[in-house]
Order: sequence, then structure tokens, then C-alpha cells
Amino acid sequence: MNIAVIAGDGIGKDVTAEAVKILSRVSKVFGLDITLERLPWSADHYLQTGETLPANGYDLLRSFDAVFVGALGDPRVPDNRHARDILLGARFELDLYVNYRPVRLLDDRLCPLKDRGRADVNFTVFRENTEGVYVSIGGRFKAGTEDEVAIQEEINTYKGVHRIIRHAFAFAVDRGHTKVCMADKSNAMQQGHALWQRVFKEVAADYPGITATHQYIDALAMFLVRDPAQYQVIVTNNLFGDIITDIGGALQGGLGMAASGNIHPGRTSLFEPVHGSAPPLAGKNVANPMGAILSSALMLETLGHTSEAAAVEGAVEAAIATGQTTTDIGGGLGTREVGDWIAAALTR
Ligand SMILES: NC(=O)c1ccc[n+]([C@@H]2O[C@H](COP(=O)([O-])OP(=O)(O)OC[C@H]3O[C@@H](n4cnc5c(N)ncnc54)[C@H](O)[C@@H]3O)[C@@H](O)[C@H]2O)c1
Repeated sequence: MNIAVIAGDGIGKDVTAEAVKILSRVSKVFGLDITLERLPWSADHYLQTGETLPANGYDLLRSFDAVFVGALGDPRVPDNRHARDILLGARFELDLYVNYRPVRLLDDRLCPLKDRGRADVNFTVFRENTEGVYVSIGGRFKAGTEDEVAIQEEINTYKGVHRIIRHAFAFAVDRGHTKVCMADKSNAMQQGHALWQRVFKEVAADYPGITATHQYIDALAMFLVRDPAQYQVIVTNNLFGDIITDIGGALQGGLGMAASGNIHPGRTSLFEPVHGSAPPLAGKNVANPMGAILSSALMLETLGHTSEAAAVEGAVEAAIATGQTTTDIGGGLGTREVGDWIAAALTR
């Protein structure tokens, strides 16, 4: 396996070091041939060279089996240009249309909800990752004046909506699930989300064994807090998926716990923790590396190494169960020490 590693900025560097530690350990324990190539793309690199990524950057990424990213974002680059080119750019250029975000509580004690536990928080969100309001189509007229007009278009295509909804149903069948819930705002957004309604019904008809339900996104946000146990698979658009997966992160114990994949099935895909670069925590050995480590497990799973992925998850669960964690989830260890513990606990 050839993996490109972009540690990026802030705590991205701290948590990536631990994910790399775990991948090296997986390679040793399971005899997997894993080659890691570090790419320097980051705010530091941009500020030193003026380059966000090289002209052949996306082609270079395509030459790897997968890409691992820590986090991008630095106050010295206020317009976030490097992050847009590297992360959003890769999502669009590599056509990574599936944003895959499992929300699984690994220990009852991490649940912020009263009287809820592992059985209640175990679902997967599929967020459309290449369309919606994030395509940056629009403009500002009379910017900076009191007459300013700002337009940001939401793009929904039949192809884009169809492929993410179909992916969600196929995943449900593959995992033995029985329910898929689609969330939109078709009561208020009557053009674009009418397309989501139509396509959802069309695809659901091909999966008679799956109960297909619909919720408006505002109701779904409420139910994620009141009754998360009702969900198995959720599929939604780019913006709504972005927001509700942060709720998902909170249900798992915090942003430091949440993992994600940006996937185009069968092609080079990109894996990253859900959190950002958290500049105030950077370099202090305090960031929780578990979201990054679980993202490396998603990468192994997606590349077909399911027992290796399960072993990584099992070692993370053991670390939580025995309190070998960073302070954000109640432990007393540093980033590196948590990585060391998980690496040592990882067995076949
Ligand atoms: N995918 C990405 O690379 C990504 C995602 C979100 C934000 N960002 C960027 O990151 C920068 C900071 O953004 P933000 O502060 O809104 O979000 P953030 O995720 O960096 O931090 C939000 C909060 O969560 C905490 N946190 C996050 N990750 C943690 C971890 N691993 N361990 C312990 N605590 C953790 C932080 O202390 C902070 O309080 C910005 O430049 C933003 O654009 C990048």
C-alpha cells in the first residue's frame, strides 16, 4: 500500500504522527507492506514557497492507494487558501463524492446524553461531498457597502444526488442494516431538494428490504440528541452533513473522537479526522489522536484490510476502557503516550 501523508497544520501534525505510528505497527503485526510518503503541503509550506500544492498535485495524489490528512487551517492564512486548494480541491478534483462518517460510541462513559450508551449511538452518516453550497458558485456585488449583494448557489445534480443515495442503500445492505433516513429541507428549498425527494424514492424502490424514511434536517438535528438510537444510516447533502456530523462527534465523546473518509469507490480516497487544526492546542502534546487513528482504521477497511481495521478499533476501545486517554475525554495522558499505548495494545 502506498499512502500519501499530509499532516498539514496545527494539531494535524500531532495527531498524524500517532496515526502513522499505528500504521507502522499494523504493518509489523500483520505483515502488511505499507509505504508512507510525507507531503509537506501546509500553511508553513505555502508561506515559505507561495505554493499551496504543485501544478501536478492532484495527479500525484491519484498515484497513491490512499491519502491521509491531519488537518488544515492556520490563522496566518486568513483566507484559508491553502486548505481550500488541498482539502476541498482534492475532494472535487478526485471526485470524492462519498463523505463517510461512522458515529459509534466506543464507551458509555463518553456519551454526553443522560441514560444513553453504546446501544443508542451507532449509525453512519453519508454526506454528499462534491456539490451543494460548497462549490463556490456565486459572487458579491457592491462588496463592502451597505448595498452589498452576496449570492452563494446550491448545486444539486441528478448524478450527484443519485450516486450518494445509492451508496447509502448499498452500504446498508452490505452491513445488514434495515433502515436508511434521508434528510433535506424540501419544505423550504423547493427546487433543489425536490430533486433529493424524487431520487430518494426512485432508489428506495430498488431496495424493498430497506425501510426508507425521510426527516427534515432541523427535526433530524433534534432527534440526534433526543433519540439517536433510531438511526442506522443517514444520507444528506454537503452542508447539512457537515453540521450534523459535528453533533455526531459530540455524541461520540467529542470532536477528537470522530473519523471520516472522503471516498470515490474504487479510486484513490482520502481519510482524515473530523476535527480541525485547533491552533491553541498545537504542539502541546494534548490533542486527542483517536479520531486520526480511527481514520487510519477506516482507510485500512476501505482498502480491504478489515481485520487490521478491527484490530486498530479494538485497541482504541481498550485504551478508552482502561482510561489511557487525553484530558478532553477524561484521561491524563499526552497525545504521544496515547499513541504509544494503542500501538503496544495492537495485536492480531
Ligand atoms: N478538515 C479540516 O482540516 C478542518 C476541519 C475543521 C476546521 N478546520 C480548520 O481548523 C482551524 C480551527 O478551527 P475550529 O477551531 O473551528 O475547529 P477545531 O476542530 O480545530 O477545534 C474546535 C474545538 O474542538 C477541540 N478539538 C478539536 N480537535 C481536538 C482534538 N483532537 N483533541 C482535543 N480537542 C480537540 C478544540 O480545542 C476546539 O475547542 C480553522 O482554520 C478551520 O478552518 C479544518
